[in-house]
Amino acid sequence: MRVLGIESSCDETAAAIVSDKKELLSSVVFSQAEHQIFGGVVPEIAARAHLQQVGVIVKAALDQAGLTFKDLDAVAASSGPGLIGGVIVGVMTAKAIAAVHNLPFIAVNHLEAHALTARLTQNVPFPYLLLLTSGGHCQILIAQGIGKFKRLGATVDDAAGEAFDKAAKMMGLGYPGGPKIEQYALSGDENRFELPRPMVGKPGCDLSFSGLKTAVRHIIEGFSPDGTIENAVLSEQDKADLCACFQKAVLDSLCSRLKNGIKLFKKQCPQGTHLVVAGGVAANKALRQALEKLVERYKLTFAAAPMNLCTDNGAMVAWAGMERCQAGLFDPLDFSPRPRWPLDPSAKR
Ligand code: KG4
Ligand code: ZN
Repeated sequence: MRVLGIESSCDETAAAIVSDKKELLSSVVFSQAEHQIFGGVVPEIAARAHLQQVGVIVKAALDQAGLTFKDLDAVAASSGPGLIGGVIVGVMTAKAIAAVHNLPFIAVNHLEAHALTARLTQNVPFPYLLLLTSGGHCQILIAQGIGKFKRLGATVDDAAGEAFDKAAKMMGLGYPGGPKIEQYALSGDENRFELPRPMVGKPGCDLSFSGLKTAVRHIIEGFSPDGTIENAVLSEQDKADLCACFQKAVLDSLCSRLKNGIKLFKKQCPQGTHLVVAGGVAANKALRQALEKLVERYKLTFAAAPMNLCTDNGAMVAWAGMERCQAGLFDPLDFSPRPRWPLDPSAKR
C-alpha cells in the first residue's frame, strides 16, 4: 500500500509517499524563504506561496518515487491545526486528487503526524510518553493509540520553538531561531548570564516560556546605551553566551517537567517503554542528548524521528495517513479544515 501526504499548515510546502512496509519512497520539502525578513511567518504570504508551489511539489514527490497517481492507495493532508489559508490549500489539493483518481481521503491532524513519525523510523509501541515541541505547540502527552492522546500538561503561554524564535529575533539572528541559537550556543558559556527556570519544582507538567523571553530581553537591553533593545550592541561572543544560557534554561525546564510526566506515565501505563520527542524543537541535538540522559535514570527507551523529519515535512503526514488507512479511518470529501484541533479534546486549556 502507498499513501501520499501533503503538508502546508505553516511555512513548509511538502509532499511525500510512504509504503506500508515503512519505506519512504520520496520526500520533497520546500521551505518558504519569504518570511525571513519579517522574523516570523506571515499567514497570507504563506497561503499564496503554498498555492504556487503545491502542484509542483506533489509532482516532484511522484517523480522522485517513480510513481503516478494510479499507484497510490490513499491521499492524506495536514488538515489542522495551523494557519488556515495554507491548510485549505493542502486539503483542497488532496481532495481534488482523491476525487479525480477515486482514492480515499484522509484528514491528518498535524500534531498527530509529528507524534507518530518516530513509529515510521523506529519500532515504538503504544502507549508512549510524548514531548511534542514545535513553533506553535509545547505539550506532554501519553500517546495511547491512533487518535487517542491524554494530555498531561501544556505551555501556559509561549511554545518552546516560539521562545527560540523570539529570543533569536531579539538578538538579530534571523528566522527560524531554533537552529541559529543551537549553532551559536556551541561556542557559548552557559553559565555567564542568570536566567529563570520557569515552573521548575512545581507539581504537574504545564510549561511556561514567556518569563524566560522577558529575562532575555532585559539582558539585551543592558547592552544598549539608552536601554532600548534596538540600540543594543552585542559581540558575537555575547550572543553565543546568551544563546547557550537560553538554550540551557529551556532544556532544564523541559527536562524537569518531563520528570513529573515520566512518574505519571509509569503510574498510569506500567507497560509503557518509550519516551518520544517530536516537533521542530526535537531537531535540537542538545535537547536529544539531555533526554537520552534523562530516560536512562528511569529505564525508558528514548526515540525521536531523524532530524530532517522533526521539522514540518510530508513524510510525517503520509505516515500518519498510512496508520489511519491501516485502521480503516477515512474522511469524507466535505471534511472542513480545522484551524484548531487539540489532540486531547478533554484537556481544559
Ligand atoms: O514543527 P515545526 O517545523 O513547525 C510547527 O509546527 O511549528 O517547528 C518549527 C519550530 C520553530 O520554532 C523552530 O525555531 C524550531 O521548531 N526549531 C528548533 C530547531 N530546529 C527547528 N528549535 C531548537 N533547535 C533546533 N535545532
Ligand atoms: Zn509542525
